[in-house]
Amino acid sequence: MLIDGHGRKVNYLRVSVTERCNFRCQYCMPEKPFTWVPKENLLSFDELFKFIKVAIDQGIDKIRITGGEPLLREDLDKFIKLISDYKPDIDLALTTNGFLLPQVAQKLKDAGLKRLNISLDSLKPAVAAQIAQKNVLGSVLEGIEKALEVGLKVKINMVPLKGINDGEILDILEFSRERGVQVRFIEYMENTHANSTIRGLFGKEILEIIKQRYTIKKIGRAPNSPSFSYQILENGYVFGLIDPHKHDFCEDCNRIRLTAEGYLIPCLYFDEAKSIAEAVREGDIDRASEILKDVLANKPKENRWSEDESEGSSRAFFETGG
Ligand code: 5AD
Ligand code: SF4
Repeated sequence: MLIDGHGRKVNYLRVSVTERCNFRCQYCMPEKPFTWVPKENLLSFDELFKFIKVAIDQGIDKIRITGGEPLLREDLDKFIKLISDYKPDIDLALTTNGFLLPQVAQKLKDAGLKRLNISLDSLKPAVAAQIAQKNVLGSVLEGIEKALEVGLKVKINMVPLKGINDGEILDILEFSRERGVQVRFIEYMENTHANSTIRGLFGKEILEIIKQRYTIKKIGRAPNSPSFSYQILENGYVFGLIDPHKHDFCEDCNRIRLTAEGYLIPCLYFDEAKSIAEAVREGDIDRASEILKDVLANKPKENRWSEDESEGSSRAFFETGG
């Protein structure tokens, strides 16, 4: 079992397989970064898997693959199969913008993937295109249908932005409810890479909009999850709200992150990170294991929003997979 320096059990690893993305979302990567991580700096799937085995052996039983856009990385299904074959009962999930899903959903399912989180910020083609800076809606909707058809469990993520898609909160809620999938509304998290003119909605503003149509009851937070569940009393539907501006989920945070370059990051809002790249390239499993222990021992107690609310994170979300 992995325990961090504050006594928290850590069993959840998020692996970002690429920082690259085929979208340019206003809240994440509005412009192409000045440089991408050079391809030769990326760990291969075999190298990443060497570390993942160490992590699984020590108690990781939940893995989420993120990006950038993870589906841009070739042979992702083979990587998923490596993990799934090593620990078939692992909770194995992927976060994607959905654009490439129509072509690969079946392959991902066959490889052992269980769950998908798909971003859907608008149901209007022009607004979706304004946010992602590309004409994306048709493919994303097709991707969602395909994922459901092949039997993947799906959740929808929406980031409401003032004056852009905040009029569609109820539409996205109904879209999700009709398909029997959970939607999670995510407060926009300020970061220095985003378009500086955009403003998010606070969780309570999002709830106010939903309350104009429905009576809702707060159910609470699933253990270790940043998402609060709410139930609509009129129809029983449960949706989630992620409001990182409060940091009351830090106390039972169970996660660490690994980037495509091999940096182990203990907390999204902190810049401390240690690289396992050299260790796995040399096949030095013991050293990789030591680095993991070290990073866990220094995992911060809570995120930094409370200290520095205005500026936001300087770490790019597309590197760490949010
Ligand atoms: N604030 C909130 N959510 C974000 N995401 C990416 N960047 C941000 C941000 N700045 C979320 C998107 C997407 C997931 C990958 O991360 O909703 O679904
Ligand atoms: Fe790409 Fe996701 Fe960032 Fe949008 S939020 S630019 S889809 S990584």
